[in-house]
Amino acid sequence: MRDFTEESLTKAVLQALDRTPDKRLQQIMTSLIAHVHAFAREVELTEGEWFQGIKFLTEVGHKCDEFRQEFILLSDTLGISMLVDHITHRAPAGATETTVLGPFYRDGAPALETGSNIAQKTPGDPTFVSGRVTGLDGKRVAGALLDVWQAGPNGFYEGQHPSVPEWNLRGKFRTDAEGRYAFRTVKPASYPIPMDGPVGRMITALGRPFYRPGHIHFIFSAKGYERLCTHIFVAGDPCLDSDPVFVVKSPLIADFVRHDSIDEAKARGTTAPFYAVEYNFVLKPAA
Ligand SMILES: [Fe+2]
Repeated sequence: MRDFTEESLTKAVLQALDRTPDKRLQQIMTSLIAHVHAFAREVELTEGEWFQGIKFLTEVGHKCDEFRQEFILLSDTLGISMLVDHITHRAPAGATETTVLGPFYRDGAPALETGSNIAQKTPGDPTFVSGRVTGLDGKRVAGALLDVWQAGPNGFYEGQHPSVPEWNLRGKFRTDAEGRYAFRTVKPASYPIPMDGPVGRMITALGRPFYRPGHIHFIFSAKGYERLCTHIFVAGDPCLDSDPVFVVKSPLIADFVRHDSIDEAKARGTTAPFYAVEYNFVLKPAA
């Protein structure tokens, strides 16, 4: 193997994969190399541009820590995360649509009683979220685990900014015997994706919008059902049609209904105005 030319090099690299024992790995690497080589040829990539790309990916890696996942943000903003989501979850009609995990999930949120407030130390519009979890057959799913997280009205998740105390705006809940869930929070607002890193510089260089529409994240786990990772979005949010991570699906847009009644607010242990959203989730049976 020597004397490769611009024309013969790709074939030689692909042949080097001939003895890969894992056939799926071989398939993935063959396709990846073929496409990246084709890309370099198509744009006539210069050495300077290639090194700029390597420097960029290095910075993306250096920006990652326990609270910040710049590689997920890169994948999300390039639409790769949602493409993989679409390929992986071709939902049968009736099941709740899936979305990406996003860069701000943190495992280990506290288990809370039904109705608890995940935003105890975060000021904002009081918001009551509730609904029912069922299977595709309409059967109520009792004891399903919901892992919930969201940004505060100032756009920051817990772990991202000192204004959000530890584990605030995160919580784990269980559905009751009727498959119902309920928790209290503050109304999520649209927020900018983190713009202080290499992905932010990329977004700026491309002149792209960087505000995500307000949303709440959910992961549902229940015995006998496929894990569901999704969002619900605030209806009327001005950024619904310009999500920089391409996640918005119309069925996931929920009405956060405003209530101005002082008596009703008192009965709920809060102040007016408050918001209430009812959203039902439908799980797919486990494969
Ligand atoms: Fe989010």
